[in-house]
Amino acid sequence: MTSDPGDRAFRVGLLGHGTVGAAFAALVPQHAARVERLTGLRPELSGVMTRRSGSFEEILERSDLIVELTGGIEPARGWLLRAMQEGRHVVTANKQLLSQYGEELWECARANGVQLRFEGAVAGVVPVIRVLQEALAGATIDRVHGIVNGTTNFILTEMARTGMTFAEALAEAQRLGYAEADPSEDVDGRDAAAKMAILARLAFASPVHLDQVRYEGIEHIQPDDLAYAHELGLELKLIGTAERVGSGLNVRVHPAFLYPGHPLASVSGPFNAVTVESEEITEITMSGPGAGGPQTASAVLGDVISAMIPPASTPPTAQVLEIVDDVVSAFYLHLEVADEPGVLASVAKILAERGVSVKSVVQRGLGEQARLVMVVHPVLESRFFAAMAALGGLDVLRAPPRAIRVLEEEFG
Ligand SMILES: NC(=O)c1ccc[n+]([C@@H]2O[C@H](COP(=O)([O-])OP(=O)(O)OC[C@H]3O[C@@H](n4cnc5c(N)ncnc54)[C@H](OP(=O)(O)O)[C@@H]3O)[C@@H](O)[C@H]2O)c1
Repeated sequence: MTSDPGDRAFRVGLLGHGTVGAAFAALVPQHAARVERLTGLRPELSGVMTRRSGSFEEILERSDLIVELTGGIEPARGWLLRAMQEGRHVVTANKQLLSQYGEELWECARANGVQLRFEGAVAGVVPVIRVLQEALAGATIDRVHGIVNGTTNFILTEMARTGMTFAEALAEAQRLGYAEADPSEDVDGRDAAAKMAILARLAFASPVHLDQVRYEGIEHIQPDDLAYAHELGLELKLIGTAERVGSGLNVRVHPAFLYPGHPLASVSGPFNAVTVESEEITEITMSGPGAGGPQTASAVLGDVISAMIPPASTPPTAQVLEIVDDVVSAFYLHLEVADEPGVLASVAKILAERGVSVKSVVQRGLGEQARLVMVVHPVLESRFFAAMAALGGLDVLRAPPRAIRVLEEEFG
């Protein structure tokens, strides 16, 4: 640690030298002089650790702050706890770790009077963590909506733009470097779920674990869902939602259709965006590059600079809200039906019996191509899924019913 009062160096130990770590290592010397003018201290790397080189204990010994950019749960969790117990500030971009062990890590930061910063963990360089923790600390937040995974947003944008299948759009994302060789955590929604758990934790000051977030991915989306939705004037996104439901909280991730006026409807390609809704502020939307080495490294450096300037801030727990599972949603419903009289009537009867009312409907195709595509008004999801199950039993359906949620616009 810095011991000589004349020494103006602020020593940063770096764990991980991959996509983000290497970009961070390059940024530090580039910005050192500017940061020294700003803070009076000059940041410099005190050591870099990878799987093949560097020792954590040696780096810790000679660092004022530890940056963790290795990813995964262990040994990252142990390193961060140990660094904080030794009185070091820590910065990480590890959303999986924070969404599962955040409470333990924040408690450790509080107990040791150090800072744990994590702006890079959600939405890359978009400063959503700071905004929730600081700028909006005075607002009562009702809901947060986010497009927090750039890979899936790129895939859905390409499918809508070109008519590609999911597999073709994924291959294109991998070719352009927007998707990793193993894209499973992105496309199945788990990456977005981890980020939404962190955002919910901050927005509602209540502990939220990744296991409490229901998530669904985009693997099952068909090109014709996008084509029909286009006719209905809808845009498809993988949406994360964290919202108050009665006295509880619901956090979920699923594909959803948006009407064109929705603030997230125009966010396309690998971009991320987060919308925060509250009675006091109506609505704030932040958007920008959601990932990438240099972008995330810039958010990490911002955190390092903030940690060089006290005071510390770790998210307080104000309350423990119950997690609510059943919420109200509107749905797009796609039915491949037999081309015969009375089909619409039997579908309508099943929906009406479960309290599901239809907002708009298009009937297309003849014979083997006959389809009913509708949007239903907001309804308790359990009721809608009961109607789906009943529809699935109809002889006149040629394939299982398909449904995707539709987000209704509230602040038009
Ligand atoms: N990539 C992005 O755009 C992005 C965006 C936001 C957040 N993040 C987060 O940032 C973190 C880093 O991501 P990344 O994409 O930079 O990962 P990456 O390219 O896979 O790099 C990981 C680095 O950590 C090192 N490492 C991993 N496990 C280690 C261990 N057990 N001991 C020592 N070193 C270890 C690796 O060492 P070797 O070099 O020896 O393999 C490598 O240098 C993750 O938490 C990720 O979720 C990434």
